[in-house]
Amino acid sequence: MSVDVRLASGADVSAIMTVMRDAFDPRFGEAWSVSQLTGSLSIPGTWAMVAHGADGTVTGFTLTRLILDSAELLLVAVANDCRGAGCGRALLEAAAEQARQRGAAEMFLEVRDGNEAALALYRKCDFTEIGRRKDYYSGAGTERFDAITMRCKFGI
Ligand SMILES: CC(C)(COP(=O)(O)OP(=O)(O)OC[C@H]1O[C@@H](n2cnc3c(N)ncnc32)[C@H](O)[C@@H]1OP(=O)(O)O)[C@@H](O)C(=O)NCCC(=O)NCCS
Repeated sequence: MSVDVRLASGADVSAIMTVMRDAFDPRFGEAWSVSQLTGSLSIPGTWAMVAHGADGTVTGFTLTRLILDSAELLLVAVANDCRGAGCGRALLEAAAEQARQRGAAEMFLEVRDGNEAALALYRKCDFTEIGRRKDYYSGAGTERFDAITMRCKFGI
């Protein structure tokens, strides 16, 4: 299935927040608030991209920032009922291509150990583990999860 991805604008914030609220499991507190999202988008070098259906409905998004020649994937999310159809992969590839065009030589991200869908997506997109912060994330109750740092070096 082909997935259309485009750069987001301020007009997409509400649709991005709809996906945000749907996609992230509240147990982990990983969804951003609208003020966190808009605050981040106001910083130069930070941008969002959205995947959308033929009718324009936003099905997923990425948020990425670039510092010097290093991009960081801050968020990727796909609405629950649109998963498993290549949307996450198309979004990540588009974010990487956009980062390359803006001068990035590599992309980093951090993921909660145990987030198997995200780990599978990142590995399929050539990210490899380069570090780990023990017990960085909290879950329900006393649960703790390592943060895994991953990197993808872009070819020339
Ligand atoms: C992670 C996420 C974005 C993946 O989106 P998706 O649209 O389902 O991903 P895709 O369909 O593009 O799948 C990409 C690859 O990952 C694999 N994958 C996806 N979900 C998987 C799962 N639950 N278990 C195992 N593999 C999985 C797919 O098999 C696919 O491989 P393929 O291209 O060889 O077929 C989605 O699950 C999500 O929004 N999760 C909640 C938000 C989140 O945790 N984001 C990451 C931290 S910011």
